[in-house]
Amino acid sequence: MPALPVPTLPPVDVTPRLAIAVLVSGSGSNLAAILDRQTADAAFGARVVLVLADRHGIKALDRAEAAGVPWEVVNWGDYPDRITFTSAVCDVVDRYGAEALVLAGFMRVLAPEAVERFPHRILNTHPALLPAFPGAHAVRDALAYGVKVSGVTVHFVDEQVDHGPIIAQEAVAVHEDDGVTALHARIQSIEHRLYPEVIDAFAKGRLHVGGRKVTWS
Ligand code: GRF
Repeated sequence: MPALPVPTLPPVDVTPRLAIAVLVSGSGSNLAAILDRQTADAAFGARVVLVLADRHGIKALDRAEAAGVPWEVVNWGDYPDRITFTSAVCDVVDRYGAEALVLAGFMRVLAPEAVERFPHRILNTHPALLPAFPGAHAVRDALAYGVKVSGVTVHFVDEQVDHGPIIAQEAVAVHEDDGVTALHARIQSIEHRLYPEVIDAFAKGRLHVGGRKVTWS
């Protein structure tokens, strides 16, 4: 009796990856950088299982849709306050089985419940060298102050705004003729490399937090 043909099965991906939710409010260029890295690097430690936005009609959601990544909107305007909004966000993240939150241009401050439910499991990227220029207008504020150097800070989120333990920073020189758009574009080109690098290290358990200090192994 002739041997039966052996079916060729697709390779099974057995690499453990940390399931992450990426939270967005705008253009989503950092989301795109994370998804590009996930596609390009078979050893990338994280897997985006959810893109969550605080509003409809943003480019970041188009990017999620195009990449075939599940997305949800928890519409800020539908909630009476930050506390109920935060609970809803955390519930959606849980429903998708995400174990960590990656804030990528997310313009809402989450209530302390998020940090309680995901301790040292929420990351943020900020377009300035913290603790200088926290807040929503960091690039504008840095230029107005006249600094010669600004940059990128990736940090863990704690109960205060732009305050948690710093994971990585990189400096960007400010040019004399810089406006907000030009400086922010140079800062973002650093973010697009640095943030996926940090997420990979975090997902692989290489970041260790002791008080305010984060060490890499
Ligand atoms: C980034 O520059 C980030 O630092 C800041 O918001 C910007 C978001 O950009 N928090 P994008 O939506 O990822 O393009």
